[in-house]
Amino acid sequence: MLNDLKKILVTEAEIKQIVKRVSSAITKDYKDKELVIIGILKGGAPFMMDLIKEINLPLIIDFIRVESYHGGTTSGELIFRKDIEVDIANKHVLIVDDIIDSSRTLKMVIELFKKRHASSIEVVTLLDKPSGRVIDYTPKYIGTTIGNEFVVGYGLDYQEKYRNVPCIGVLKEEIYKR
Ligand code: IMP
Ligand code: MG
Repeated sequence: MLNDLKKILVTEAEIKQIVKRVSSAITKDYKDKELVIIGILKGGAPFMMDLIKEINLPLIIDFIRVESYHGGTTSGELIFRKDIEVDIANKHVLIVDDIIDSSRTLKMVIELFKKRHASSIEVVTLLDKPSGRVIDYTPKYIGTTIGNEFVVGYGLDYQEKYRNVPCIGVLKEEIYKR
């Protein structure tokens, strides 16, 4: 899998540092609050699993699945595939995502959670790609910011593959021609 990468943008060690930094900020900010952490499947799952182990607070987890990219590398229509099962009314919601690009996915999820009367809704993303924004949004917690490149690994896929790569990288051009 690593052989398919042309370059590594975020190493495993850097991801570990990000997890430490972000989880300690979250632990501080959500002290004495009822925290519900909601991961956006599938991409946000690896980051969320690492993150929750480092958050030293009582918390509840759940998942939502929204599909935005239909196998390719450009943004498509959004479809809700799986809803959360917990009641978030009067709870503090923290959404975990792998990457924010156009911010369309996130905006839909935030609007849905607002209607359910969450006390607060914040976002933690491993990667931020501000150059891709269609809807203006700045997440509260950002792992690291990247340029206008399509990346894979640590949850992020290309045609459903590469989610298990332990770092974040850019694929070689020849992979897209297959
Ligand atoms: P947005 O709605 O455009 O912000 O898209 C967010 C979702 O698109 C992410 O959760 C990813 O699943 C996917 N995505 C955006 N950029 C990339 C990328 O560079 N590689 C893989 N998936 C991406
Ligand atoms: Mg995704």
